[in-house]
Order: sequence, then C-alpha cells, then structure tokens
Amino acid sequence: MYSNNGASYRQQPDGPGGEGDCVVLRVDNITTCFETPRGAVNVVDGVSFSLVRGKVLGIIGESGCGKTVTTLSVIRLLPRGGRTTGGRVIYGGRDLLRIPETDMRRLRGGSISMIFQEPASSFNPFLKISTQILETIRLHNDVGKHEARRIALELLDSVGIPDPDKRIEDYPHQFSGGMLQRVLVAMAAGCNPQVILADEPTSNLDVTTQDITLDSIKKVSDQSGAAMLLVTHDFGVAARMCDMICVMYAGRLIETAPASEFFREPRHPYAKALMNAVPDVRIRNTAAPASIGGKPPDFNNLPAGCAFHPRCPYPTAVCRTQAPPEFRYGNRTVRCWLHGEGDHPQACHNHGE
Ligand SMILES: Nc1ncnc2c1ncn2[C@@H]1O[C@H](COP(=O)(O)OP(=O)(O)O)[C@@H](O)[C@H]1O
Ligand code: SF4
Ligand SMILES: [Mg+2]
Repeated sequence: MYSNNGASYRQQPDGPGGEGDCVVLRVDNITTCFETPRGAVNVVDGVSFSLVRGKVLGIIGESGCGKTVTTLSVIRLLPRGGRTTGGRVIYGGRDLLRIPETDMRRLRGGSISMIFQEPASSFNPFLKISTQILETIRLHNDVGKHEARRIALELLDSVGIPDPDKRIEDYPHQFSGGMLQRVLVAMAAGCNPQVILADEPTSNLDVTTQDITLDSIKKVSDQSGAAMLLVTHDFGVAARMCDMICVMYAGRLIETAPASEFFREPRHPYAKALMNAVPDVRIRNTAAPASIGGKPPDFNNLPAGCAFHPRCPYPTAVCRTQAPPEFRYGNRTVRCWLHGEGDHPQACHNHGE
C-alpha cells in the first residue's frame, strides 16, 4: 500500500506490463527535469512501466508531453540541461541510472537497440552500409566476416530491402527515408537486442512506407523476442503494434491498460478525447472526429491539481486543487478523480477531502 494526502490505494510495483510476465527492463518512478531561467522544471514526473519479453508497450500522447524525454532518460541520452533526478531503470539486475558511462555505452546500440525518427542520424554518412552493418553484427555476435555478411543480407531481405547484395554496398544517402529506417531496423536486429526503444519510428514516412516499416519492426520484435518500447502520437500505429498502452499527459502516465481493453474503452477523459480526435473511424468512438479543446499545458506553468482540468469536460472542485493519484483496476490504472470510486471503491479512501 502507498499513501498520499490521505488517499490510500494499491500500486503495482512493476508498473504497467509487469503482470507476472518476463520483465526485461523496469522503469521505476523516474523524474527528469530541465534547467530553465526560472529553475528546474520536471517534464517527466514519477513515470513507471515495465518492458516485457516479446511484448510492445506504447507510450502515446500529444506532442510535447514528455514521450521522447522519457525514452532518452532510460538510455541516458538527455540533451544538455536535462537531468534525471529520481527513480531507477532496472535492467539485468543493475540500475542503468547509476552504472558507469562506459558500461552504458556498451548497452546502447547493443542489447538495448534504438530506432529514432530520423534514421540518417544513426549512420555515418561517409561509410557504406556494408561496413556499418557488418561491424555492428560482429560487435554483438561471435561471427567472422563472411557469416556476418550472410546475416546482414538475410536481415536486409527480411525487412524488405530489394537486391540486398547490391544495396548493402550503397551509402546511407542513396536510400530513401523509409528504406534507411528499415536498414536501421535490420541493424538493430543484428545486435540480438533484449530491448528495442523506438521513438516515432515512422512519423516522417508516407503512409505506404509507414506500413512496410511497421511490419518490419513487428517482425523483428516477434523474431528476436525483444521487449519493445514504442513511442508514438499516432493511435493507429499504437493500435496496430502495441500489447500495452500508456497515455502520457504533462509528463505523467495518466492511463495504462492492455491495448485491447484500452481501445475498447479508454477511461481517462483525456484518453477518451484523444481517441475521439482520431481521423480513422475504425478507432474512434464517435461519428465525426472531435478536437480536444484548449491547449497542451506549459511545463513552466502547470495548472494546480489535475493538469488536465482546464481542458476536461468533467472537472470538480477537487480536480482544481489536488492531483489525482493512480487508481488501479485489475491490470489497468487511471489517474483521475472520477475513477477513484469504481470497480474497487476500497482502492481509494478520503479523496477530495
Ligand atoms: N532540450 C530541451 N531543453 C529544454 N526543455 C526541453 C528540451 N527537450 C524537451 N524539453 C521539454 O520537455 C517537454 C517534453 O518534450 P518531449 O519529450 O520531446 O515531448 P514529446 O516527445 O512527447 O513530443 C517539452 O514540452 C519541453 O518543455
Ligand atoms: S481528475 Fe478531474 S479534471 Fe482531471 S481528468 Fe479526472 S475529472 Fe477531469
Ligand atoms: Mg518526441
């Protein structure tokens, strides 16, 4: 049990995804801030989740809510001015926030693979793809040059690169954005990753290329059995790829649920509004898309109480003064006072007092 301001509620130590599955990486209550002229501002605030072997956990939310900063906190690649001030990232029995940088460097691009929005930034523009992919494969597998090349060609073929034996001799700039992203996916797969962190991997791609790239990411994740974190602002991508959904608002996870249950019925008012704003009629619950009123919050000036209250259709007095804790319902959680008394009234006492 955990208690806060008189409210008492159950909290699952593993965070979403932990339900007795094989947890590969556990993010436990991390907080990350940026230094600003007005002092340190938390842009990730008490975030917890678990990445499970063979499963995809999605973080969704509007632009600027803290998805990328969360991902970069996990692998300690925060931009200048960013600092993770609390929490733990447990991987292989160690807290990644506290291991030496040399150890961290060995994990990055190895057993923890990364796929970011802009694939070109992950390649050396002056080296052929063959040099880069073979080097990566040999760094993480005990194989000779010929075997590494065979693996590389197989991986490139598996992500849909035509004529891999010719294309492997090209330079990064000779590939389209979508193809280069798939080369990166192949390279990530070649590292035998235990964890894949993918941040908006298809956001810069047209719809057709997006489909092929998502298929190849899914294939790699299924075949490698890696645990995957997929950050996206796109509900369609999340619905297609994820087993578990976390919705982020103003640096906090405000709803977490198995994807099938979430897409059947989101519970948090913000999650409902997000879903009703989706253009794809197969995903949203309303006949016409409805935009979310108001503006995303400014981290320098977050509203008191529930950060969503100025935009929420159902705010009550308590919402304006007290941030809701995380209420748990079976394998789902919701940070909203409306859900403080639902399936499990005993999960919360005294809220709003
Ligand atoms: N380099 C930076 N310096 C200062 N603040 C930053 C920086 N990067 C991100 N932020 C702050 O962190 C918030 C979350 O950013 P980010 O994680 O990139 O959002 P998302 O990925 O959800 O679009 C931003 O709204 C901004 O306030
Ligand atoms: S806590 Fe209150 S303001 Fe926040 S989402 Fe729930 S009902 Fe709306
Ligand atoms: Mg981002």
